[in-house]
Amino acid sequence: MMGSMSTVTAARWVERWESQQQRYAVDREERFTVIADVVEHMALGRPAPLILDLGSGPGALAARLAARLPDAEVTAVDADPLLLALGRAYYGPALRYAEAVIGEPGWLDGLAPNRPVDAAVSTTALHYLSEPTLGRVYRELADRLGPGGVLVNGDHISPDSPRLADLAVVIGRRHAERHLAFAHDDWDSWWTCAAADPELAPLLAGVGPRRHPRCEGNDLTLSGHISLLRQAGFAHAGTVWQFGNSHVLVAVR
Ligand SMILES: C[S@@+](CC[C@H](N)C(=O)[O-])C[C@H]1O[C@@H](n2cnc3c(N)ncnc32)[C@H](O)[C@@H]1O
Repeated sequence: MMGSMSTVTAARWVERWESQQQRYAVDREERFTVIADVVEHMALGRPAPLILDLGSGPGALAARLAARLPDAEVTAVDADPLLLALGRAYYGPALRYAEAVIGEPGWLDGLAPNRPVDAAVSTTALHYLSEPTLGRVYRELADRLGPGGVLVNGDHISPDSPRLADLAVVIGRRHAERHLAFAHDDWDSWWTCAAADPELAPLLAGVGPRRHPRCEGNDLTLSGHISLLRQAGFAHAGTVWQFGNSHVLVAVR
């Protein structure tokens, strides 16, 4: 747990984070809406569904899910203590927050100790994982999701054809230009400016070695993800929404 920060400071950095992320997640808000539609539909009839947002950052997706499903227990999971602290201060008690490095041994153990997970969601985060780590994470999630449980992953994923993959990048860039996404911080400037904020600097200094996770990355195309999900034990896997290379990939246990 990091030290406290004012709500005003948290709001400033979460709002800058939201703008910054629009550079990297094409049609991000619509992606969130589709993920929430899937989870809401799949959770019908489940009292107090348990939802994990993997690689949540401050918790934008988790917060939208908590608003759409007021009876749900939504946990925002991330390895980065600063982003978790910003989310705690900004979104307040509607969400639970858990610091964990996804893919490390036992990472899921403390997150859902006594019951199956109903939905695991993620946005713009699982591309950090190498293919072997992602395969292991998919298997662990398949084990922890109950029957009918769902994994919903919104991320940039390349179409299989290299020509279409290039085209998907162009489509995404044109969308971002039309929506002035490049007028905001990029990733590096957000982190540089946050580190220079006198209210955040001591928090960052106190984190020690627990820092932003390294992006190992993978080259999986859409069909690569789908076959990894099927190997992990998901009965159904495929895209339900796409804009450029921004996909919402759904896998049902
Ligand atoms: C590009 S950010 C997206 C954050 C958030 N989902 C959003 O859309 O605003 C990627 C996030 O994934 C987290 N992340 C990456 N690899 C992780 C890992 N192995 N374990 C936990 N969190 C991880 C990062 O700390 C970061 O917050």
